[in-house]
Amino acid sequence: MATIGVFDSGVGGLSVLRELMKVLPKERFIYFSDNAYCPYGNREPSFIIDRARAVSESLLHDGADVIVVACNTATAAATAALRNEYSSPCERVKELTGGRKDRVSFVGMEPAVKPAALGTKSGVIGVLATAGTLTGSKYLDMKSHYVDDVKIVEHVGKGFVELVEKGELDGERCERVVRGSVEPILEAGADTIVLGCTHYPFLAEVISRIAGPDVKIIDPAPAVARRLCNVIKEESILTGGGEGKVTLKSSGPDDALKRTFALIF
Ligand code: DGL
Repeated sequence: MATIGVFDSGVGGLSVLRELMKVLPKERFIYFSDNAYCPYGNREPSFIIDRARAVSESLLHDGADVIVVACNTATAAATAALRNEYSSPCERVKELTGGRKDRVSFVGMEPAVKPAALGTKSGVIGVLATAGTLTGSKYLDMKSHYVDDVKIVEHVGKGFVELVEKGELDGERCERVVRGSVEPILEAGADTIVLGCTHYPFLAEVISRIAGPDVKIIDPAPAVARRLCNVIKEESILTGGGEGKVTLKSSGPDDALKRTFALIF
């Protein structure tokens, strides 16, 4: 049985955990919500790197064989630094794992610009994400491959993370907040919207209601689950034989985490 560490700034990464558990139902998962520091969206990359390091070390100490950064903002700010520090054989990983491992791999989020660009009929795609993701070099690099072929309209999901952390996933106020960021994308002619923040899939029903049936909503989580399976295979990490246990951890109060977990599992 493998132990898979998963983290996010809050409950958003549970939308990724849901997909990971579909493809790896027998493994042990440790989910860490760094909610004492949520949201990450507007924070300095150096702050996010420090948090990602602290959370990854806690997951390694608790037995993680591989770590999924289930947060687009942390992926943009910190995965290069994490891989640099922990993905080649090093003393720190040995120390944290009691000699069980000397390196660890990280699987990050990919904003699904490629499938959106390949599938659009109107030639306009929308990307909803945090400011940190939209200004990160990973996203800008990916976008540069498609800007000649499609128009990409970006919008920060203003207030979305706060709604999801509060468990306010529908209702009049929720719809008003979501409308504020989705309507400009629709007005630009988008027929596809990429959810570039792991909190946003919890608002997918509201987004879809506002956008209408002809607009496709893309959640990159299933692609991340496939990538995790490949990493597990490539690294011969032993899987199977377990019962699909999930341990929940958080840096702040755990009520939002427990509530959201109960909602989706
Ligand atoms: N869920 C996160 C993401 O995918 C972070 C949201 C936030 O903390 O601002 O970007």
